[in-house]
Amino acid sequence: MTADTIETRCSTQAPGATGIAHVADVTPLLPVVGSDTLVPLVDGRSVPYANLDVAASAPALASVAERVTEVLPLYASVHRGAGYLSQVSTALYEASRRTIGGFVGARADDVTIITRNTTDSLNLLAGCVPARADRGPGRVLVLDVEHHANFLPWRRSADATVVASRDSVAATVDAIRDELALQPYALLAITGASNVTGERLPLDEVVRVAHDAGARVVLDGAQLVPHRRFSLEDTGADYVAFSGHKTYAPFGAGALVGRRDWLDAGTPFLAGGGAVRQVGVDRTTWHPAPARHEAGSPNVIGAVALAAACDALAAVDPDEALEHESTLRARLVDGLSDLDGVQVVQVWDDAADPVGVVTFGVEGHDPGLVAAYLSAEHGIGVRDGRFCAHPLLSRLGLDGGAIRASVGVGTSGDEIERLVGALRSFVAEGPRAQYAVVDGCWTVTDDPRPVPAGSGLSGLFATAAAGFVGESAGCGPVPADG
Ligand SMILES: Cc1ncc(COP(=O)(O)O)c(C=O)c1O
Repeated sequence: MTADTIETRCSTQAPGATGIAHVADVTPLLPVVGSDTLVPLVDGRSVPYANLDVAASAPALASVAERVTEVLPLYASVHRGAGYLSQVSTALYEASRRTIGGFVGARADDVTIITRNTTDSLNLLAGCVPARADRGPGRVLVLDVEHHANFLPWRRSADATVVASRDSVAATVDAIRDELALQPYALLAITGASNVTGERLPLDEVVRVAHDAGARVVLDGAQLVPHRRFSLEDTGADYVAFSGHKTYAPFGAGALVGRRDWLDAGTPFLAGGGAVRQVGVDRTTWHPAPARHEAGSPNVIGAVALAAACDALAAVDPDEALEHESTLRARLVDGLSDLDGVQVVQVWDDAADPVGVVTFGVEGHDPGLVAAYLSAEHGIGVRDGRFCAHPLLSRLGLDGGAIRASVGVGTSGDEIERLVGALRSFVAEGPRAQYAVVDGCWTVTDDPRPVPAGSGLSGLFATAAAGFVGESAGCGPVPADG
């Protein structure tokens, strides 16, 4: 989409840095739960929460929540229950599996394994990469732009080689091709879209390059699948991993979908009931996939929710979805770039069609302070830190972290304008409240905001932001002690 088409589609309000019109009149594409939730500000007012952290976890689609409410009365034990509702639950679970596989273009002989999330899915696959002929662990190639979930499993369970991405997409694909020519690789593990910049590599070409060298491809679809139509069959990719909680179905399920042979032969992901055909005192016979990798009671409601999200996203016109997201992203980048000292981050100078994830820094200000200010003074949720992509942030010179805003089908143009406006005030005047670092997190000093009524919480902010008491969550800036 060009800036011209964006301008035509959007309102007539004043343009930003490069003439992209404001987008306050762009409405969400699909309704999400919580879009009208009010959050308190430090000045005593309440405003609708602007959730611009959907790349981390997206709110439930309204249709997903309705579907979950509908099936909860039908929920009972799955797979091993003889009761009527057990059979209904089993049928719901297996039908969800088919829907989820179909959503990512599974081929007839592909397997869909229900996992907890992308991290689970990639760890599972890492245990299934076949050993080399010399019995060494299978070789896996990764780029240094990856989220830790598509980095660490290969290091732990396979023989991982990390290729530094180059300044351009074209040079990066060449670097992948060159490395694949040096030695035989079992697998190329590559992101569908960067969780830091939203940028994408040309998937069809990457798959061709890998297959020409005899390597399979697993796509980390965590940021791609919720944003773009993706098909294993059309792209030729061998596996895709993705997360329900990033795909508007935050009920604890994710998926790994792809070729059956490795998954049938690989180490069962968890040892336990449901994954086994026969257990003797000293010998176990395992099921083939998917049961082989789904030991323990499965997450029926999570699978149903993810399938409902897949159905809802599949029903959206892809051109409309692309226009919605590209319009919001373009305005966000334009509005941020217009502000003094605000720098938008990118990895490549020629990446096409990035998804709605934008990372930036505000010169002279700690990202944690900016994020705390956006929340406390404007009711805007963004992410700060190193986004579980330490190698990339380090290469970009951002060991101190950055700020990330992300958009999805539930995002309105008004939320984008609120973010740009709030940052404009910050750059011009700084924050109004007093902030300090507590337990490694920027927090409002004497924060007057109440915890939500009915939440059962009695205190929230000082340590909840990091998610850990007295420890870093591991995705934030480099700690002072290195
Ligand atoms: C690109 C990418 N891969 C993998 C993950 C891990 O996803 P999850 O935490 O759902 O396992 C994320 C999460 O942010 C991500 O953005």
